[in-house]
This record gives sequence, structure tokens and C-alpha cells, in this order.
Amino acid sequence: MDNAAPPQHIAIIMDGNGRWAKKRGLPRTAGHAAGAESFRRIANYCRTLGVRYLTVYAFSTENWKRSADEVAGIMRLLGRYLREALADMEKNRVCFRFFGDLTKLSPELQKLCHDAESLSADYDVQVNFCLNYGGRDEIVRAASNFAADVAAGKYRPEELTEELLSQYMYSRDIPDPELIIRPSGELRTSNFLLWQSAYSEYVFMNVLWPDFSPQDLDQAIEEYHRRNRRFGGT
Ligand code: IPE
Ligand code: IPE
Ligand code: MG
Repeated sequence: MDNAAPPQHIAIIMDGNGRWAKKRGLPRTAGHAAGAESFRRIANYCRTLGVRYLTVYAFSTENWKRSADEVAGIMRLLGRYLREALADMEKNRVCFRFFGDLTKLSPELQKLCHDAESLSADYDVQVNFCLNYGGRDEIVRAASNFAADVAAGKYRPEELTEELLSQYMYSRDIPDPELIIRPSGELRTSNFLLWQSAYSEYVFMNVLWPDFSPQDLDQAIEEYHRRNRRFGGT
């Protein structure tokens, strides 16, 4: 029954919080709060389904362009969310990894991220939280770190392979996502998982992230199962 098995790794661009709030005459931050609830619901549902890795795009390297108010609101919500998640980690059987340059975050938030990563409770789902994450930034960092290892005599340039460069990505040791979901109706990647998505199946949906339900996830997975994945073969 391998065909009915859920993907091992699902990635989601959690988009549409602002429009959700606007439709209700609420401030954008209220949309981000509702988006955090949606994430909680979907992470739990992934555990029920037996999905092993869930990678979510929470804040991009480009999202700093937003108003200082909105950025501060998002950071505040992230802090609150992580504190609650830390308290419930064992109960929820979830572990956290963070993809992105955390050094641009406040020291408090950085500490919460480090605490969440180092708490190695028994878990069913690994959540990769993309924070100040950009796909291009990730590739530049990988290239730069490889170059540093070459300079230090650890490798010769011609030893570089796709597998080796993968080991310099945030996603080292994690399989590529089979399925990437973007709610909100936008049809672009917005710099998400550029390296890892080479053969991912994309499902774009017309629902805003705060409204995204377990039924929507079921629907995306059904669509994924209808795809014919060829990986360049026949
Ligand atoms: C996604 O929702 C959350 C972040 C990018 C932080 P948006 O805030 O982008 O919502 P829309 O796209 O404006 O509706
Ligand atoms: C992508 O959404 C980033 C996150 C969901 C965190 P954006 O709302 O930032 O993307 P654009 O601006 O519509 O491309
Ligand atoms: Mg958006």
C-alpha cells in the first residue's frame, strides 16, 4: 500500500495571513496570530498522518522589508509560540530545527530557538522552522563554507558533488520534500527551498493559511498521489 502512504517530508509556505486579517478588518498581526494557530493544528495533524518531516516557511530574508510594527509583531508571536511549544514538546512528540540565519534575531528569540533544538525529546515529527530563511542565502552560505573548507585543506574543489554540497545546507541529512504546498493563491516559490525542491511536487491552493484545515492537507496529499513523478526518466 505504498501508494497510499503520506509523503515523508511535506513543506508549506504559510502565506495569506495579511489578507485573512484584512478581509475581517483586523490588523495584519491578528492574521499572523491566526496563522500560528493554523500551524499548531497542521503540525498535530501531520503527526496523526505519520509524516516524518514538516518544513514551514515562517519568515523570509525578504520579510524584513515590512513595517517595523509588523516585523515586531511577528517576532513577538514567534517568541510566544516557541515558549509554549517548549513547554509542550514532550506531549506533542515534536522536535524542532531552525533553517535560516538566526543571528539577525533578538538574543531572547535566539535562545528560545537554541533551547528548542537542544531539547531532544522522543518525537514523531521533526519540524524545520524556516526563520530569516532564503533559498539563495542558503546556497551562498553552503558555497562559502565549502570554499572555507577547501582553503583549510579539507577538500579539493573538484571533489565537490551534489551530495557533498547538500551537506552544507540547513537540510543536511533530511530527505528532500516530496510535496510543497503554497496556500493563498500565489503561484511562486518566493525563495523557498530552492536547492531541495528540484523534484518536489508543488500544490498551490486558494485557501488563506489561517483557514488551512486538515481537510486541505488531505486534498493536497491526494493531489500529490495523482502526480506521475518521473525524475527525468520515462
Ligand atoms: C505570511 O502571510 C506570513 C509571513 C510572510 C510572515 P503574509 O503576511 O505574507 O500574508 P499576505 O500574503 O499579505 O496575505
Ligand atoms: C513567503 O511569503 C514567505 C513566507 C510565507 C514566510 P511572502 O508573502 O513574503 O511572499 P511574496 O512577497 O508574496 O512573494
Ligand atoms: Mg504573503
